[in-house]
Amino acid sequence: MTTPEICTVDTTCPSAPALPLALRLQHAAKESGLCLDQPWLLRRVLAGGLFRTLAMRFLRLKFSPLILDRVRALPLPLAERSSLFTQAISLINARETYKTTGLGRTRLVDAAVLRRAGEFQKPRLLEVGVSDGVSSLDLLAALPAQTEATLTDRHPEFTRRGFGPAVLILDGCGRVLGLKLFCLYLNLPLEVRLAPFKGRSIQTANPRLAEASPPLSIIRFDVCRDAAAQPYPLIKCANVFNRKYFPDATIRGAVANLGRSLTDGGYLFISQNNDRYAEGEAYFVLQKQGAKLVLVEERNRHEALELFQGATT
Ligand SMILES: C[S@@+](CC[C@H](N)C(=O)[O-])C[C@H]1O[C@@H](n2cnc3c(N)ncnc32)[C@H](O)[C@@H]1O
Repeated sequence: MTTPEICTVDTTCPSAPALPLALRLQHAAKESGLCLDQPWLLRRVLAGGLFRTLAMRFLRLKFSPLILDRVRALPLPLAERSSLFTQAISLINARETYKTTGLGRTRLVDAAVLRRAGEFQKPRLLEVGVSDGVSSLDLLAALPAQTEATLTDRHPEFTRRGFGPAVLILDGCGRVLGLKLFCLYLNLPLEVRLAPFKGRSIQTANPRLAEASPPLSIIRFDVCRDAAAQPYPLIKCANVFNRKYFPDATIRGAVANLGRSLTDGGYLFISQNNDRYAEGEAYFVLQKQGAKLVLVEERNRHEALELFQGATT
């Protein structure tokens, strides 16, 4: 697998709209709380039971991106560290979405990608919104070895700025995401941007990616506004287009924007995991035909399917 530089930013295409103040306050109230960012506490929470209910529901325990480096540094075998990292990142909120993910969760859509990949002599895959990247690993392993695969996310890293008990956390765009003050995390999805290079980067790539040979990296790419410099025949987007996260107009706009990164005849695969779907997963596939994206396949009725049942430009 190779990982080329691919992203160009077209600033004429608007990103997801900023939340109104009332919704931002609601978000801050819901997502802020007691926060220790200790791996031992994460393990206790993951063990479930009464402790988890008490901690998460009654003590409003939160985890911030600061826990990621601590888990990465644990003296554990790779498989264990990787699994804990995935579970830690799955509890982290990054504005509209959580970074929830899991190894092997997108098997239905991965099979669909593999079937269509056979149509191309040298398949190239762009995956968007990958979180820590583990949900891409099975597909990457199954694609032909010469496949060029590029993993991306809007927040492939966070930045910490500040010292000791007061740390500001910036998102992948350099905007203030939260303030950690002693044992309290204030999740503040502000539009204020600070220079991320003045802080310390917290990478989100799972240890399995970072320690692969050669290492796999995650590149910044916003589905609402970015476009690949060289279009791809295959684009996978799993668990990003959730109608609870984004208004329908934003999802439609983002899909049209992703169309700019597709080759003519190329496919966009959109999937979602949820227990309410038969088989726990639903997906649909749009093909770029000239200026249009046309629905060519669907399984288990993805909640956003109805937005694309006609052709879209
Ligand atoms: C629920 S996770 C899904 C992760 C992975 N695809 C999976 O299925 O396990 C959603 C991911 O989408 C990313 N995301 C949110 N908004 C995005 C945007 N506008 N462009 C690209 N990625 C975005 C988040 O940072 C997060 O990592």
